[in-house]
Amino acid sequence: MIVTSNCCLRRTFFALTTNCPPRSLAKQQTLSIRRRALSCSMTRSDPFKPAARVAGQRQDVWTIVNEAAAAAPEHLQPVVNMGQGFFGYNPPDFVLDAAKSALDRVECNQYSPTKGRPRLKKALADAYSPFYGRKLDPEKEITITTGANEGMLSAFMAFIEKDDEVIVFEPFFDQYVSNIEMPGGKVVYVPMHPPLQGAMKTTSAAEWSIDMKELESAITPKTRMIVLNTPHNPIGKVFSKAELQAIGDLCVKHQIIILSDEVYDTLYYVPFTRIATLSPEIAKLTMTVGSGGKNFYATGWRVGWLIGPEHLIKYVSAAHTRICYSSVSPLQEATAIGFEEAEKHDFWNKSKKEMQGKMKKFNTIWDELGLPYSDPEGGYFVLVNMAKVQLPEDYVFPDIVADRPRDFKLCWYLIKELGVAAIPPTEFFTPENAHIVEDWLRFAVCKNDDILESAQDRLRKGLKQYIK
Ligand SMILES: Cc1ncc(COP(=O)(O)O)c(C=O)c1O
Repeated sequence: MIVTSNCCLRRTFFALTTNCPPRSLAKQQTLSIRRRALSCSMTRSDPFKPAARVAGQRQDVWTIVNEAAAAAPEHLQPVVNMGQGFFGYNPPDFVLDAAKSALDRVECNQYSPTKGRPRLKKALADAYSPFYGRKLDPEKEITITTGANEGMLSAFMAFIEKDDEVIVFEPFFDQYVSNIEMPGGKVVYVPMHPPLQGAMKTTSAAEWSIDMKELESAITPKTRMIVLNTPHNPIGKVFSKAELQAIGDLCVKHQIIILSDEVYDTLYYVPFTRIATLSPEIAKLTMTVGSGGKNFYATGWRVGWLIGPEHLIKYVSAAHTRICYSSVSPLQEATAIGFEEAEKHDFWNKSKKEMQGKMKKFNTIWDELGLPYSDPEGGYFVLVNMAKVQLPEDYVFPDIVADRPRDFKLCWYLIKELGVAAIPPTEFFTPENAHIVEDWLRFAVCKNDDILESAQDRLRKGLKQYIK
């Protein structure tokens, strides 16, 4: 009943907005109610049947890890959570103060323009223009979104039609896949290859490589977009200029849109190149994604953006308007002030140094234990190779991890027996390629120093005996 009347209301509205005369409107309503009632009685056997796009989803890794951590034995509580990439500390005071004062302003508590607050777009244009070597147009080349994630969803919604193909490198940030599939797109995976010596010794994240021939052979006439991520989650690789040039040239040759996810663009420890800046031809095809949450330690604020040419950005704005209309006003204002004042506080240099310091400090535990890791060039994740760790053979794992690759078991064991949570990276691979990382675990170091030390302490005491 409810379904019918809602539907009817929508049709009435549609008819009204399309200037239907009242008579035909009444006729239409009657017809539509009849049709609806007929189709409901014929097909709606389970009124609560979910859509296929959510029905088939396995329990996600974040829920498994967070729930396991919450249920760890009492003597290990609170579990040292180095799993999810949220910060263990607050945004800097100048950004927090900006958010607090924005809440006192009437206009900051109301809808923002759908494309974002003018102050934030201008602040971003000012901050990013130097990288592009020209003045970005804040009105036409930047659009604000609800976090980078919704920005990418809007980009896929804007350009992907049913059966269009989107190339994604494995490992991938897990949200890409459902975001591509929602508009009906098909994900085509191209694996990144791990360092050959990755299980024997610590290697650089730079050694994870793409086979350009493999990439080119994944391109078909249906390829519409490619997703890049640099600095990379979970690998910590910063793509070199040569790698980006090769990928960009291929996209120009085949006229493929590039979605460059650069949410960790302030956390790089080697030279960082933005693909959009390599040539006008590449720039024409490229949308770059950013995240205020990652830049200012405020992942809960959900402020993100896309930068790119007008012929791409205007359609992302159009999709964003239909998905969530506009994004959180006061926090856009605070993010704008963050960008305006960052240099004055030397914030970008400080945050990069601080994160690199945390990374170095935390990784000393792996040197001490003799476990190799992939030394990150950017971001705040480190992948550690645990091939040398032999878990007790008689250990009983619950169903939820028993049929998953070895990294899930390692992860479970670390939570339940040591009280340290990490993320199993096979979750960022397709089942066919999961074997590439089944011996690795991902740790997030964006935590307070006492948390890093406590994790080190637990790993030192609990893991040593299992390392062969
Ligand atoms: C590679 C990558 N892209 C995008 C995001 C999402 O960013 P946001 O929180 O701004 O939506 C994340 C968050 O972890 C990420 O790791």
